[in-house]
Amino acid sequence: MTSTTPRLRSVVRGLGSALPARKVTNDELARKVDTSDEWIVQRTGIRQRYFAGEGETTSTLGAAAARAALADAGLEAADIDLIVLATSTPDYTFPSTATQIQAALGITHGAAFDVQAVCCGFVYAVAVADKFLISGSHRRALVIGAETFSRILDFEDRTTCVLFGDGAGALVLEAQEGTGANADRGVLTTQLRSDGRHRAKLFVDGGPSTTQTTGHLRMEGKEVFRHAVGMVSDVVRGAFEATGLTADDLAWFVPHQANRRIIDASAEKMGIAAEKVVVTVDRHGNTSAASIPLALSVACADGRIQQGDLVMIEAVGGGFTWGSALIRW
Ligand code: UT7
Repeated sequence: MTSTTPRLRSVVRGLGSALPARKVTNDELARKVDTSDEWIVQRTGIRQRYFAGEGETTSTLGAAAARAALADAGLEAADIDLIVLATSTPDYTFPSTATQIQAALGITHGAAFDVQAVCCGFVYAVAVADKFLISGSHRRALVIGAETFSRILDFEDRTTCVLFGDGAGALVLEAQEGTGANADRGVLTTQLRSDGRHRAKLFVDGGPSTTQTTGHLRMEGKEVFRHAVGMVSDVVRGAFEATGLTADDLAWFVPHQANRRIIDASAEKMGIAAEKVVVTVDRHGNTSAASIPLALSVACADGRIQQGDLVMIEAVGGGFTWGSALIRW
């Protein structure tokens, strides 16, 4: 419930993103698999995505996004004492990709680790970093979503290979004193859920402890679609209930970018006006944990999101995992 006791808040200091050099259009994919620009646009809203090339990995994209976020914040890498990276496509099984980004940035203090909640990973990472910051144990966090899903796609499977893309986005969060009221800048609430009974609907069919291979992404798209809007509503409603805020209070709704139809149906169901919805799935495809920070970057760069705006992020991912965060920018 709403409290007005002074407390620490995780406040957004900076934001950055990075995309691979190579842009891949629907027409280019249609030359390799039995699909068409028309089908992909109609069913998903996707027009293009980016695929990592040689030398581009989850850690190089994540580090580039982190550098951009630090520059935006006017901070040095040394000012960061926590790195939480959301990814399902790590550079290696171990060590964590977060530690590789930490090394790339030249940071040798504090903690760095990965969080794995597939497409909901960025929301999980924001929630985890928020809990560290508001506890007072850490001061400034880089929260990164970075993915190279092109490396786990089966390019013989047209039902999945047209949907995903690569990229990274990063947020700098800083612990600052707040009043405890909803008018505070920073993360106001996070809502996380999971239900592992749904594994078979969206998974990768390989792993060190089962097949000793990396595996490929498998999805029952229709099944995921069927559950998606209900899960979104659950955590969006949860965030409103936790804060006493409503859809009318929102300045921007920045959902995970998987499918235009899911985004539109979720916004409509929650009574969120269409002009408040940030959509970037057309230009990035589904970049899993990177999609929300990439969308935030677009909406900040073009001047839509301003300091003080109330921003709702939410995502649904494999597991299933689902979650939301309400942030006063
Ligand atoms: O990030 C979170 C996880 N991901 C998601 O949120 C994805 C959720 N699911 C979806 O977005 C949609 O279910 C899809 C975009 C994956 C599929 O859309 P759909 O409207 O559910 O299509 P469908 O699976 O019912 O397929 C319709 C038809 C089928 O042909 P028939 O059986 O009707 O003859 C498919 O074989 O479309 C066919 N199809 C394709 N046609 C051209 C499937 N993929 C393609 C393709 N190109 N790439």
